[in-house]
Amino acid sequence: MNLLVTGGAGFIGSNFIRYILNKYPDYKIINLDALKYSGNLENLKDVDKNPRYGFVKGDICDKKVVDFLAKKRPDAIINFSAMTHVDRSILEPEEFTKTDILGVQTLLEAARKYKIDLFIQISTDECYGSIEKGSFTEESTLSPTNPYSASKAGADLIALAYYKTFNVPVIITRSSNNFGPYQYPEKLIPLFITNLLEDKKIPLYGDGKHKRDWIYVLDNCEAIDYAIHYGKIGEIYNISGNTEKTNLEITAFILNYLKKDETYIEFVKDRPGHDRRYSLNSSKIKKLGWSPKYKFDDALEYTIEWYKNNQSWWKKIKSGEFLEYYKKQYSEI
Ligand code: TYD
Repeated sequence: MNLLVTGGAGFIGSNFIRYILNKYPDYKIINLDALKYSGNLENLKDVDKNPRYGFVKGDICDKKVVDFLAKKRPDAIINFSAMTHVDRSILEPEEFTKTDILGVQTLLEAARKYKIDLFIQISTDECYGSIEKGSFTEESTLSPTNPYSASKAGADLIALAYYKTFNVPVIITRSSNNFGPYQYPEKLIPLFITNLLEDKKIPLYGDGKHKRDWIYVLDNCEAIDYAIHYGKIGEIYNISGNTEKTNLEITAFILNYLKKDETYIEFVKDRPGHDRRYSLNSSKIKKLGWSPKYKFDDALEYTIEWYKNNQSWWKKIKSGEFLEYYKKQYSEI
């Protein structure tokens, strides 16, 4: 297969590209990425010279570049491009609407024009909003609560509309919270690991009892692979790691592994509109034969080790744009 991966220089996209090139020796990938703050070619240094991999710098909102690549008629377009961080979406909501909704529409238009056979939209459990008990299925009502999740829900609806109205062959995957190597250190797990490695405090929002359903990034990559090869057009697939943890539990695990005590926790003001709990029912994708393989504890330990061993990767990030964001974030809370 020839795949056009968009947003492949980000966290999940770069892990997916590496996974596909390793798993399928005859697949080729073109990666279109605007290299905005979290897109980083260092995430793909090891595949850079692979003759089956090519990189194009460009924005999914740019019709010209999208048209140019879609015209080559890849077998599938897989869209990972998105602004993804909730706190950032509270600081700059407009950017999220532009990239996450209009960018996706630009891709869908190109898929429609060049009759692409498969369009995979990578989405998130956050579209469903918070749930007190039980788990969301693919039929649950979308009830996003912040500009990020609203922009992703908007993109999903546009994608489904292109399927229903124009027969663009769309499949949507909605996964729970990912973690693993190359995750930008503004998210809970990499932020806390890297702060502790720098001997800094870790800002826990509110009472720390918010719950997330965690999945190791390579389990998500494999589920997306199943959706590409066995998924049904027009369908949505929830992808869960089946590991529900409070933020306090995640924090305790990281503190313990890095041999730090609770004095490093700084309870800070809660995020506005903070969703209390996310939970997904992923029995639909399990019927395709997928299930998560990685044990949470092992995967989190591996991830901590990765950040320990790749300090130059995240130190560069934390000294630049990230620092500005971080200052802004805390001055506006
Ligand atoms: P995050 O990694 O931003 O993912 P999401 O909000 O998309 O689920 O946050 C995960 C959880 O951790 C969420 O409940 C917010 C909380 N959190 C903190 O307590 N402190 C932090 O500094 C961050 C970034 C997140």
